[in-house]
Amino acid sequence: MSIHSHRRAIVYARARLKSTMAASFAVCRLRFRSLGRFDRFYLGLEPQTQRRLASTISVIKAQAGNKTAKAVTKAKENKTFQAIQEERREQAERSVLISCPPRFNEKKFLDYLSKHGTVNKHFFYSSYGAYAVVEFSSKESIASLKENTNIPAVEHEAAVPFKSRLLSLKWPGSQSNNQPVPNFQEQSPPSIGDITQLLSEKDSVDEQLQCLTEALQLTEENISLRFLVCSLLGDIAGAYFPECIIRPFGSTVNSFGKLGCDVDMILDLDGIYATSQKKGSGLSLEYQVKRGASERAVTQSILSVIGKCVDQFGPGCVGVQKILQARCPLVRFSHQPSGFQCDLTANNRVAMKSSELLFLYGQLDPRVRHLVFSVRCWARVHNITSSIPGAWITNFTLTVMVVFFLQQRNPPILPTLDQLKDLAGPSDKCVIEGNDCTIVSDLSKIILQKNTDTLEKLLQEFFEFYGNFPFNKASINIRKGKEQTKPETTALYIQNPFETTLNVSKNVNATQLERFVKLCQESAWLLQKREILNRSSSQSAESVLPWGFTALLLPSVTSGTGVKSRRKRKLEPASSRIKNLLDSLKIKGGETVAKKGSTNPSR
Ligand code: CTP
Ligand code: MG
Repeated sequence: MSIHSHRRAIVYARARLKSTMAASFAVCRLRFRSLGRFDRFYLGLEPQTQRRLASTISVIKAQAGNKTAKAVTKAKENKTFQAIQEERREQAERSVLISCPPRFNEKKFLDYLSKHGTVNKHFFYSSYGAYAVVEFSSKESIASLKENTNIPAVEHEAAVPFKSRLLSLKWPGSQSNNQPVPNFQEQSPPSIGDITQLLSEKDSVDEQLQCLTEALQLTEENISLRFLVCSLLGDIAGAYFPECIIRPFGSTVNSFGKLGCDVDMILDLDGIYATSQKKGSGLSLEYQVKRGASERAVTQSILSVIGKCVDQFGPGCVGVQKILQARCPLVRFSHQPSGFQCDLTANNRVAMKSSELLFLYGQLDPRVRHLVFSVRCWARVHNITSSIPGAWITNFTLTVMVVFFLQQRNPPILPTLDQLKDLAGPSDKCVIEGNDCTIVSDLSKIILQKNTDTLEKLLQEFFEFYGNFPFNKASINIRKGKEQTKPETTALYIQNPFETTLNVSKNVNATQLERFVKLCQESAWLLQKREILNRSSSQSAESVLPWGFTALLLPSVTSGTGVKSRRKRKLEPASSRIKNLLDSLKIKGGETVAKKGSTNPSR
């Protein structure tokens, strides 16, 4: 990079920082104003809904407060993806997870723990019981705590004497209702019913989409818990490979994770290989090792043994399944104390690089995350995506599609992957298994053009773009930022950003693609008509009619849960379709919210 363009980058970064700060103050003002309005609306609801919404609101309020502090800190520190991950990993190594009684004295609990060292942070949550996450300021405190922790005496059974960092608090005496209840942080996503109500109170589609991200995104506490679960697993794998690290990847770290999403993990053995490459000219020693037929065979063998160990010795790990014949072999299990579904893979460094790439795109412009969260939520509600593996479009595929769409704007909102590669410095160079995975890590080097499209416009045009995309002949390529001729006849072809011979959406069949396209067409059409963009003036505190984005979450009005065929739609005048829709919203508004209120769109 020339000195000239470097200087331009600095000037640009300063200007961006200024405008981001101004924007975040404006957003904060708006957010608090809206929350005030919401408090009034919330008083008219059933006590059960009030309780659920109260937790949603408290999460959103807390996040609104934290965010300004975090944004400023981040901008100041200008941390890279790797630095952020390393910091979280190191915090997790100084943390313990403690099962607690539902009521206890928090101060006494903390006083007890403080005997072993300074407690940096702690929080409580409930999931199959009450739990505390406690972060000490030094790792020595954990050793001291463990020295004073007993292996339980179990009657009629025997205990595996594995001393993990998952502990149980034994409170002396009987549990009385007079004990205070600690403040439990919410770890699950709000239901669609809650989201619909929350968003219906907003003043514009843009505000709705911002609010949606805030309601669904992972909280700081949830991310800490995810890193802690990886660290606990690392203790088990460390029995065989002491230098290994278990790292989260995917939506836990790529900034698009929704509360309730799975924890994708990599067993990283690179540290072991790296320290074994010291070359000297004199005498040297080598480890004697077992050899496998291929790298894949070695990965399968390691995962098989660790999977067995997790199953038999891992406290809280249940339902362990070894899926070793998959393209990317994995061990799947539930970690009960956290409520997370975990997928442990090994030798999967390219996927970590894709996570970094998505994280980078998410940081470049706030509209990226808002659009991704909205499209993912819309797709989940309409069963375009599913928590069951199959021929569906996945969240990862949808995210790449949003990135591609934003690269196509005029001027583009996101740079191409090749542009990110061109900005990379020597220390960013990264080749994994012959794939060039180099991308710039310093965000301030990236120069974006000014694009002022609103979220409402972007959402509408996203639906139009994919409602008319020539999927039959073109593939999606975010490296070049261009459509390309499809190299194979699969329904949907999206080139893997780094493993360029792979198709990210190979699993998607023609039926699922067609459902997606038709739903895009219908949603674009609804937004074009603009009627759903108006908030009904007749709504009261008891009934808030879905409008704007929330109207797009209602079942398709033209044919039950599916989407009406293009042919049939053409026969019906537009005015009568919109009338049907509006009537349906009026009739079904409350009913739909009530019916869907019980379902959480997981993943
Ligand atoms: N991945 C990939 N190619 C695929 C599928 C997944 O490279 N065909 C990588 C991506 O880095 C992805 C990660 O594996 O982020 C985890 O996959 P998955 O759990 O399916 O997606 P997430 O992005 O984690 O989204 P979700 O919230 O649905 O878990
Ligand atoms: Mg995932």
